[in-house]
Amino acid sequence: MIGAFRDLGRRGLFLFDPETAHGMSITALKSGLVPACRINADPRLRQTVAGLEFANPIGMAAGFDKNAEVPEALLKLGFGFTEIGTVTPKAQPGNPRPRIFRLVEDEGVINRLGFNNEGHEAAFQRLKAIRGNGIIGVNIGANKDSADRIADYVAGIRRFYSVARYFTANISSPNTPGLRDLQARESLSALLSAVLAARDEEAAKAGRRIPVLLKIAPDLTEEGMDDIAAEATSHALDGLIVSNTTLSRDGLRDQRQAKEAGGLSGKPVFEKSTVVLAKMRRRVGASLPIIGVGGVSSAETALEKIKAGADLVQLYSCMVYEGPGLPGQIISGLSKLLDRERAGSIRDLRDARLDYWANRNV
Ligand SMILES: Cc1cc2nc3c(=O)[nH]c(=O)nc-3n(C[C@H](O)[C@H](O)[C@H](O)COP(=O)(O)O)c2cc1C
Repeated sequence: MIGAFRDLGRRGLFLFDPETAHGMSITALKSGLVPACRINADPRLRQTVAGLEFANPIGMAAGFDKNAEVPEALLKLGFGFTEIGTVTPKAQPGNPRPRIFRLVEDEGVINRLGFNNEGHEAAFQRLKAIRGNGIIGVNIGANKDSADRIADYVAGIRRFYSVARYFTANISSPNTPGLRDLQARESLSALLSAVLAARDEEAAKAGRRIPVLLKIAPDLTEEGMDDIAAEATSHALDGLIVSNTTLSRDGLRDQRQAKEAGGLSGKPVFEKSTVVLAKMRRRVGASLPIIGVGGVSSAETALEKIKAGADLVQLYSCMVYEGPGLPGQIISGLSKLLDRERAGSIRDLRDARLDYWANRNV
């Protein structure tokens, strides 16, 4: 059923430009037309990360549900968690269209959306109305025309404190000019100090400490990774998300679309993002939570992220190609892989191929 839905859905959606198709997917999810996932929860996939209990390690990455329109519908597809955003304090239109491109031969996507979103208030009102208990993270960013970018992140922590199960400070979108500069050591130190101080103040008021993760780019030098690891550990950050889209265009078949400006995601970013994930795991040690994201398309690639050092995994682009059955397929596939590896828990396989991935260069 889901297979037929996938083929039909994909053939149908690919008749439209990618942004229109995305809007249609959101509408379908809102209307309840997309079949829910019916798989049995496998206790071996459960784990506690950053103090949160995840039923399975597969999450929807930021960018799919920027305005918090369909978080519960996404959880019904089988995802163990979902991340809304990136949200900025004020609504903003983003870059002119077209701004999302499919690289069909490569199963990749290039986007230069530029944080188009309805702003904090709209997303907050939707999240406030949710009664379920699923894990919904809030990914926060800065407005393009902001005079004080750090203040925008702090505003995100304060606005969403009562509704977020975790926060992601996204400093790695390539589509807001200068945003990635926040990854440089001094700026990162200032950002983390301000964001974590705001979190601590809100935690004292609410009596609940919400974890804050930092989402980084895959386009980092070894020194850049050293700096981020040093700041992450010295500021007692709760975790990292590795990684956002890449500016690289290496190894692409679709040379026509490859010329489009923006961040590349999907299968072509798998290798690079997995190498950076392992290199960051090596640097931050065993206990800091890391979410691996970039090019996950199957149970095998999801498990490879875990073996490279990830506690949890997210995906977005490959669902464009595989359809809404993908999270369910990955989750049942992971159970089969655990049988094959005779592993009692997904956690047992973390870091199993850390050396392989951390020693590669991309
Ligand atoms: C169309 C599109 C929009 C995205 N928007 C965001 C965003 O707003 N914030 C963010 O942190 N990441 C955003 N991302 C990046 C994804 O969350 C993810 O890090 C990246 O695409 C790699 O994963 P994937 O290969 O599974 O897509 C976006 C990705 C795509 C394809």
